[in-house]
Amino acid sequence: MSNPSLLILAGDGIGPEVMTEVRRVIDWYGDKRDLKFDVSEDLVGGAAYDKHGTPLTDETMAKAQAVDAVLLGAVGGPKYDNLDFSVKPERGLLRLRKEMDLFSNLRPAQCFDALADFSSLKRDVVAGLDIVIVRELTSGIYFGEPRGIFKEGNERVGINTQRYTESEIDRVARSAFELARKRGNKVCSMEKANVMESGILWREVVQKVHDEDYPDVELSHMYADAGAMQLCRWPKQFDVIVTDNLFGDLLSDAAAMLTGSLGMLPSASLGAPMANGRPKALYEPVHGSAPDIAGQGKANPIACILSFAMALRYSFDQGDEATRLENAVEKVLADGLRTADLIGEEGVQPVSTREMGDAILAALDESL
Ligand code: IPM
Ligand code: MG
Repeated sequence: MSNPSLLILAGDGIGPEVMTEVRRVIDWYGDKRDLKFDVSEDLVGGAAYDKHGTPLTDETMAKAQAVDAVLLGAVGGPKYDNLDFSVKPERGLLRLRKEMDLFSNLRPAQCFDALADFSSLKRDVVAGLDIVIVRELTSGIYFGEPRGIFKEGNERVGINTQRYTESEIDRVARSAFELARKRGNKVCSMEKANVMESGILWREVVQKVHDEDYPDVELSHMYADAGAMQLCRWPKQFDVIVTDNLFGDLLSDAAAMLTGSLGMLPSASLGAPMANGRPKALYEPVHGSAPDIAGQGKANPIACILSFAMALRYSFDQGDEATRLENAVEKVLADGLRTADLIGEEGVQPVSTREMGDAILAALDESL
């Protein structure tokens, strides 16, 4: 049998430097655990635009469709701010999500004990936090039609459309209930049913899926604004949160800060199962391309490395190896290693991207 295949799209800004550390982790698994992957690399975002005039070529799109999993770094940067909307770096990422039909975006927010004091919230509130936001990723206001900037009388009007079909809500709700069964068995669904019809339908469908097929899972509903407040007030009340594309975008950035740094959080975007039974999948850190620190070797590679851990778990049935990698990250944090984004305490010297990678590899070696 051939090795499982991975397509690496490092992208822009800090993407390439954090991905270099992930490549070393991938090689470690090949050498030390005999888990070999066929790795190929290609361009996305601004990097693809610079070479091809488009943030994602059809060839790269076809490769992404053919592999077992895609690993993405980050896209975007100020250099591309004035490009036409249709070729902005972000469009490359959105095309991947849409055409691979990656409707279920898992964004865990887990607080490592060593970082609990680093959160802007009190230790009590965040220590031991372990929640997952399941964000719908292929529909809603990100993709709804009509959209555009139109002329209306003597002024312009900007339009985006929030649109959800029952089947789109149904499938993401199922993925949240399935996930909850493997965790704390609790789902909170968030929308704005008080002001949006799409929210009313969302609530109805989630409730129906629950009553028919997941009555054993505890389900609650919350307006998304109240949900944002509750996330800051007492996040440990949640287990799995399921929400739409835009609310999920906002709530997951907020949840990320509970854990201390955006530089820590991985994500998995999953679609329907392929012929081999694996879900179509793309893994990427929640953080962006951080152009302000790009190329300086100080970015935190942990979110991207933990994204590979999610790939091991969700695409390659290697839950134990994923845990090994997560434990290695936990160990280096407990040992006091901090990249610049995690420096709050006085007297702590930050380590570089490479040094953090070295330490994680050493912790992996120790785990054998
Ligand atoms: C995210 C990002 C993206 C989004 C951007 C880069 C298109 O903010 O993945 O959260 O808005 O979905
Ligand atoms: Mg976002």
